[in-house]
Amino acid sequence: MKKLKWGVIGCGGIADRRTIPGMLLAENAELVAVMDTADGVAEKVRAKYNAKYAYNDYHELLANPEVEAVYIATPVFVHKEQVIAAANAGKHILVEKPVCLTVEEGNEVLAICREKNLLLGAGFLMRFSSTHRKMREFIAEGNLGQVVSVRAQFSCWYPKMEGAWRQVKALGGGGALMDMGIHCLDLIQYITGAKVQRVGAFCATNVFDYETDDQAAVIMALDNGAFALLDTNFNIPDDSQKARLEIYGTKGSILAEGTISQVDGGNVEILLAEDKGYDAQQERSSADAATFEGLEYGNMYTREIESFGRSVLEGTPLESPAEEAIQVQSIIEAAYASSEKGTIVAL
Ligand SMILES: NC(=O)c1ccc[n+]([C@@H]2O[C@H](COP(=O)([O-])OP(=O)(O)OC[C@H]3O[C@@H](n4cnc5c(N)ncnc54)[C@H](O)[C@@H]3O)[C@@H](O)[C@H]2O)c1
Repeated sequence: MKKLKWGVIGCGGIADRRTIPGMLLAENAELVAVMDTADGVAEKVRAKYNAKYAYNDYHELLANPEVEAVYIATPVFVHKEQVIAAANAGKHILVEKPVCLTVEEGNEVLAICREKNLLLGAGFLMRFSSTHRKMREFIAEGNLGQVVSVRAQFSCWYPKMEGAWRQVKALGGGGALMDMGIHCLDLIQYITGAKVQRVGAFCATNVFDYETDDQAAVIMALDNGAFALLDTNFNIPDDSQKARLEIYGTKGSILAEGTISQVDGGNVEILLAEDKGYDAQQERSSADAATFEGLEYGNMYTREIESFGRSVLEGTPLESPAEEAIQVQSIIEAAYASSEKGTIVAL
């Protein structure tokens, strides 16, 4: 099988923890080169994963003709210059979320990639969860009836730390909402197939002493008539939240815990109810919980890399295209604007 030859720009964080190990398991990928600005990191990662080349300067990686595609996993404020440089070097690009600091920057880099006929994918790895894919299919088949309500939650404990770029707006673009909430916003739309139209939000830095939001609550009106709620915090201990995702329709619901995660898995209850008409007793015991049977859990990063590789090598549509990630970012910008102005913002 033909393998796509990858270079990794920014290899010390999520790339080292998850994406490169996932890439090594991908059947159509070969890790060729790694690059990082931090002292000794590129060489350490090169040796750890047996890559051919290590660089401290991304221009050198991009000048290497063996590299056909790059995975960019650097702090958000450098995405724009690195995506543009990679496009100018003729490489296909998978960039981590968010694509750039702003929607405007995202559209700018997307236009450059399009002009050069290069693919630009975004790192929404949670689209590659077995459960999320099954939910999407289950809902598209009409099993929940009309989807009317969605809730999503994704939080962690992220105290003030020296050098933490997510805590500075100019470096990360935002806090909890931009970094974690973004996955939930994408999943709400990806799983239901509906798009957010109007947004109301509260975003604040409530507990910690840094610039970006450490908590956000967002309410959204979707184009299918459903409402969605998101809460995302940097100020809740990791073990004190369950990463809940709940989708309610006129025929039943899917209640999930722990599927919003870097690991494929979690618990799902499916509660489908017979149409019994109006029940004045509000009897709630009729729905027996089921779950999705036979899901084949796997490495979501491997799937993400294989999927991007298929798009480059075989021309299949991108499963996580940058334009969809930029649209998700427009919801975030609307939420920040709503919180600041105290009004509902239309997209
Ligand atoms: N999909 C996911 O599961 C996931 C998880 C975490 C982070 N992310 C995203 O990945 C990106 C990186 O996040 P992270 O948590 O790995 O950050 P990090 O700070 O832990 O690691 C970033 C790495 O990039 C290096 N770096 C910094 N500036 C650089 C530059 N100009 N050129 C090259 N390398 C540079 C740093 O030395 C570091 O090794 C962000 O966009 C983030 O939102 C995605």
